[in-house]
Amino acid sequence: MIRSASLLVRRFSQSSSSSRLANATKTWGSTTANSFVKGQAAFKSTLADEDDEDILASTEQATEADSTSTVVGAIDDDNPMESSSKTKQSMETFDRSKSGTASPWAVFDAWGAGSDEMVNSSLSDFDQTMLRPESVKIPLDEKEVEDIPDEKDILHAYDHLLQAKSSVHFGYPYNLMFDFTELTPFLKYSINNLGDPFVPSNYGVHSRQFEVSVIDFFANLWKMEPDSYWGYVTTSGTEGNLHGILLAREQFPDGILYTSQETHYSVFKAARYYRMECKSIPTLPMGEIDYDILQQAIQDNRDRPVILNVNIGTTVKGAVDNLDRILRMLKQLDIPRERFYIHCDGALFALMMPFVEFAPEVSFRKPIDSIAVSGHKMLGCPMPCGVALSRKEHVNKLEQHIDYLNSVDTTIMGSRNGQAALYLWYSLRKKGINGIKRDVVHCIDTARYLQDKLKENGLTSRLNDLSSTVVLERPMDEELIKRWQLACEEDIAHVVVMPNVTKYKIDMFVKELMECADKHGRIQPLRPDSPLTKLNTPW
Ligand SMILES: Cc1ncc(COP(=O)(O)O)c(C=O)c1O
Repeated sequence: MIRSASLLVRRFSQSSSSSRLANATKTWGSTTANSFVKGQAAFKSTLADEDDEDILASTEQATEADSTSTVVGAIDDDNPMESSSKTKQSMETFDRSKSGTASPWAVFDAWGAGSDEMVNSSLSDFDQTMLRPESVKIPLDEKEVEDIPDEKDILHAYDHLLQAKSSVHFGYPYNLMFDFTELTPFLKYSINNLGDPFVPSNYGVHSRQFEVSVIDFFANLWKMEPDSYWGYVTTSGTEGNLHGILLAREQFPDGILYTSQETHYSVFKAARYYRMECKSIPTLPMGEIDYDILQQAIQDNRDRPVILNVNIGTTVKGAVDNLDRILRMLKQLDIPRERFYIHCDGALFALMMPFVEFAPEVSFRKPIDSIAVSGHKMLGCPMPCGVALSRKEHVNKLEQHIDYLNSVDTTIMGSRNGQAALYLWYSLRKKGINGIKRDVVHCIDTARYLQDKLKENGLTSRLNDLSSTVVLERPMDEELIKRWQLACEEDIAHVVVMPNVTKYKIDMFVKELMECADKHGRIQPLRPDSPLTKLNTPW
């Protein structure tokens, strides 16, 4: 009975979302051919390039007229359609109605995540009922089947919820703008890349060719010599960290892991899983590792090999540890190359940094050993995923042949998500270097816009030079925190500006922050060395 009653309500609420989807699909269809060719060209030219200058040159070709002092090949934000003749060409088929939004890479905006529209997040009573535990429970007998609503109604309510939540999301580093409609037919396959990406197993329903292509792309981006690297598509940045640190532990079973206190918990988890001794080094106010304390700690333990996790963007403050300074320190301490391993945790920022002007180079031309990046962060992907890349010689140590697979075991997971590899490949192919660069430009510029707005309004906030993570005082209203899905740590919160965050939404956010401050007051530092106290000390 509940089934039929709910159907009536569903029909009523369904129409608006399906027409939005239909519009978005239309936009997608018309843009495909142009951007594909452009993405290809940029991708190929990058693969051919060996060093920094060349990567930048290849991207500059496409954005000759663009430049700002901070981001490589930046775009005129006030007039994004006028960036350069070549960029203009690729935009000709864009949905013009979106040209006012800050990130005009509308080809990836499947349902309007990057538009100024903010979908009302208060669900109807009906939708709320559909999502209650008693509605979504899995029935165990026929009697229970009678009492539960139709799955279509549940899914429709869920779609509404996700649209609302995605349209007002500021706190986590996820690029919500993408369109993988063209890949929908592949969801009918059980694509599994079990085993090693470079050693085919007997299971034929895989996407290894795409996975290897993704690895090649990142190896080029981070300047690895052909044949010197190994990598795979992971389930997330966390798995990349678990893998990189496992390689380090295999290399140096008696090594000590050094990492900053502001490191993502996955690195400490790796230390726990692998029973490694881990030294958590205090940080400077803006979140970088305290280099002097690190130096002293290494000096005090110089009889043991050094395993270093270098943060290429910390989770909360977006702080980038200075790799060059760390390398100089190791030299000063006379630690030879065969006594240290460096893993770079670049979950969000390892894909941004190559496109930020004046950013120091983080690449395998320097004595680092592995990098992990998330795929669903800067690039954007409907399922969490990532990439782990390392020097080949480290992986050789780990490798075990498995008869059952007819492949080798080199990865953390056994069965591996072949869809994710396909999605990453597709996104990289479609965007190309120019598309990623555009997104990075948008993030850095828009983060500065937010920082300026917060300052203008007298709120405490900070933004690291190389980052799009704006740290601010924690609002006093939990409802506001929930509505904007802010990530908080004690007395601070942060906004990670991603391609789907528009200036319009920022204006709305700041307006709500000010209303909140008027109504509830402003938070005071919770203790003498709390995150907010540090935010107030000079960086
Ligand atoms: C610095 C850093 N490292 C690792 C991770 C873990 O990445 P994932 O969520 O993809 O597992 C995160 C996630 O936010 C992060 O910020």
